[in-house]
Amino acid sequence: MSETKIQIRNLHKAFGKKVVLDGIDLDIVKGESLVVIGGSGTGKSVLIKCIQGLLTPDEGSILVDEKEVVGINEQEKEELHSKMGMLFQGGALFDSLSVWENVAFDLLENRSMDKKTAKSEAVRVLRSVGLAPDVADLSPSELSGGMQKRVGLARAIASKPEIIFFDEPTTGLDPIMADVINDLIIESVKGLGATALTITHDMASARKIADKIAMLYHGKIIWQGTVKEMDKTENPYVRQFINGCSQGPIKVEV
Ligand SMILES: Nc1ncnc2c1ncn2[C@@H]1O[C@H](COP(=O)(O)OP(=O)(O)OP(=O)(O)O)[C@@H](O)[C@H]1O
Ligand SMILES: [Mg+2]
Repeated sequence: MSETKIQIRNLHKAFGKKVVLDGIDLDIVKGESLVVIGGSGTGKSVLIKCIQGLLTPDEGSILVDEKEVVGINEQEKEELHSKMGMLFQGGALFDSLSVWENVAFDLLENRSMDKKTAKSEAVRVLRSVGLAPDVADLSPSELSGGMQKRVGLARAIASKPEIIFFDEPTTGLDPIMADVINDLIIESVKGLGATALTITHDMASARKIADKIAMLYHGKIIWQGTVKEMDKTENPYVRQFINGCSQGPIKVEV
């Protein structure tokens, strides 16, 4: 039997009159890599923030390891976060800290590891994402976008999380660097045996890293399946999205 790591039921979230999530049902199996696709502004980042307990949904339930996330207190939130790693949309590295301090942030702040051990651990993780030890002492602002993504990835995996979120991991990278990052994501997730939730509109990346794909549209998961099933589906929303057509049932408000 496959074990459910994250179970989402009837999740609703609105900001004022704007309904963003309108009854999401989604299961993420332990050790699986799920990719949620959907257009800009459809609520992909909001979904991740709800699972992390950073946004409170208006209605519904989110179970992580069978424990309810909705309505948890600060201490429970800390426990939840200790299981999670995140690669942020746009990197979100601290420029005031060196590369290794960024990577070791959680080890230093939340696991009170001593500086020397944390640094050697950071250098080890940096190496696992293809960065040489001499990068450790640089500032993130001295790195290229692709290198910053690698540092962001190293930070996401440094504390060996059980669940990793990737928010647009390949945005802004050239196609070859994007593919390098995809490979690193697969390696890191498999290496840790982690459960991964990625949100992206990069279909090449989705195809490569997904065990399963789910499409978010108008606040609901309107389709899910494997990459093979996606290529065969007649669902007009999925077809339009994966083919990148302006014509179809999805209307873009301009
Ligand atoms: N804290 C907030 N307060 C008010 N509105 C918000 C807040 N966070 C998100 N929204 C709104 O929710 C909608 C979904 O935002 P979200 O960031 O989840 O989109 P997304 O699917 O991640 O888009 P993108 O692909 O462009 O990153 C947007 O209309 C956004 O303006
Ligand atoms: Mg987003």
